[in-house]
Amino acid sequence: MATSSLQKKPLPPGSLGLPFIGEPPRLLDLDFLMEQYAKYGPIWKTRVLGRDIAVFMGPEANRFVLQTGAQHFSWRDGWPPTFVELLGHSLFVQDGEEHRQKRKLIMPAFHRQALHNYLDTMDDIARRYVEKWATLGEFRWLQQNKQYTFEVASTLLTGSEPGDDIERLSKLFITLTRGFVTVPVRWPWTPYGQALAAREELLKYIDAAIDNRRANPTHDALSLLVQTRDEDGQALTNEELQAQTLLMLFAGHETSASMLTSLAMALYQNPHVLEKARAEQAMLNIGERMTMDHLRQMPYLDMVLKEVERMYPPVPAGFRGVVETFEFAGYRVPEGWTALYPINVAHRDPSIYTDPNTFDPERFSPERNESSVPFSLVGFGGGARVCVGYAFAQMEMKILLSYLLRHFEWELAERQNLKMVYRPTLMPKDGMQVRFRRR
Ligand code: HEM
Repeated sequence: MATSSLQKKPLPPGSLGLPFIGEPPRLLDLDFLMEQYAKYGPIWKTRVLGRDIAVFMGPEANRFVLQTGAQHFSWRDGWPPTFVELLGHSLFVQDGEEHRQKRKLIMPAFHRQALHNYLDTMDDIARRYVEKWATLGEFRWLQQNKQYTFEVASTLLTGSEPGDDIERLSKLFITLTRGFVTVPVRWPWTPYGQALAAREELLKYIDAAIDNRRANPTHDALSLLVQTRDEDGQALTNEELQAQTLLMLFAGHETSASMLTSLAMALYQNPHVLEKARAEQAMLNIGERMTMDHLRQMPYLDMVLKEVERMYPPVPAGFRGVVETFEFAGYRVPEGWTALYPINVAHRDPSIYTDPNTFDPERFSPERNESSVPFSLVGFGGGARVCVGYAFAQMEMKILLSYLLRHFEWELAERQNLKMVYRPTLMPKDGMQVRFRRR
């Protein structure tokens, strides 16, 4: 569009509040977002701590941010500088050609053959955890799920030995993650200072893993990464390997732990769904070992996973920097603004999902197929930068769930706060205390 006619377009509706400060919008509050969606449709504006923000909502807006308008956005400029400092120069903050090349180097670790090689290890770890939980009897499930998903990620992505320091490393990640949502004051006793220290400890662990994989390459993702060469024959530097590995460990365990916790909660709260999921598992006659064939024959569990992705998406939103002024839905979004797409808004759109606040996995059955509208289910993002770990996460969740459904039962403790909050992934406020036993 000619620059002059673009400049004449109005800014999106909404209020920027006070100059320099803005208004305190409730960008993670679903009720508020749904009100804004009803009032303004696919785009509105706000200002937070001096940053002008365009909020994109609903499937068409998701499609624009993730696919058709992706060239107007930068991932790097979307994240706060603290995020970049804590996670390093990794895929999350790379753009354009650099991103394309690095993603291509990383993808083989998540392709079909690689996933096939991961199956037995995931199966062993899942079995060990459910046995441990039956022995514990009572525990906070979110924390345990974080240990499970961290052990899967660190074993398969960095080649650590089962049991290696998992509890300590998982705690370091919790400290690191707290740093994303805090004021960046760097004294050693502040949450941000502690997050930086946790990052240093984690990098030491990753460094040792890199040396180890260079000396003894196996089938894990880091072995693939240390050997890989780009189109010009260049290997990843140690610094790049560190950053990409730290990102994969971070992205690969918090999110899956969040979703597993919501899955266990939803199954407990919807006994008819639990029964159907148990019946499907019983039909599969899984013996000593899970196979890829078993995992492919769980259509009902697949629907349950989608319904949890819809109602309890672990990631609240995607953030982008606007790198050139553009028009969307008749409005002008200026260069230098931040763009944000809240993931759960399309998921609760009543014109797409019938009775959207009801937990109903069968909405994803082939007959009803309610997510047929493109970009209406975006719990893993979408377009060219869709989550690289989608299939990995599905596999580790399905393997664990299969054990839970076949052999165990659980109850949520009565006096606890199950309100779902983003910290920074979605979780029940008290971490979900459960009583767990063999059936
Ligand atoms: C339930 C589990 C998971 C959920 C819900 C999830 C969600 C997401 C979402 C929403 C995005 C896109 C964000 C945006 O558009 O701004 C994303 C990207 C990404 N995810 Fe995941 N993720 C999960 C598991 C994993 C795992 C297991 C890994 C790796 C082991 C992983 C690695 C990544 C990476 C590297 C990206 C960035 C891709 C790129 O920029 O090209 N994720 N994920």
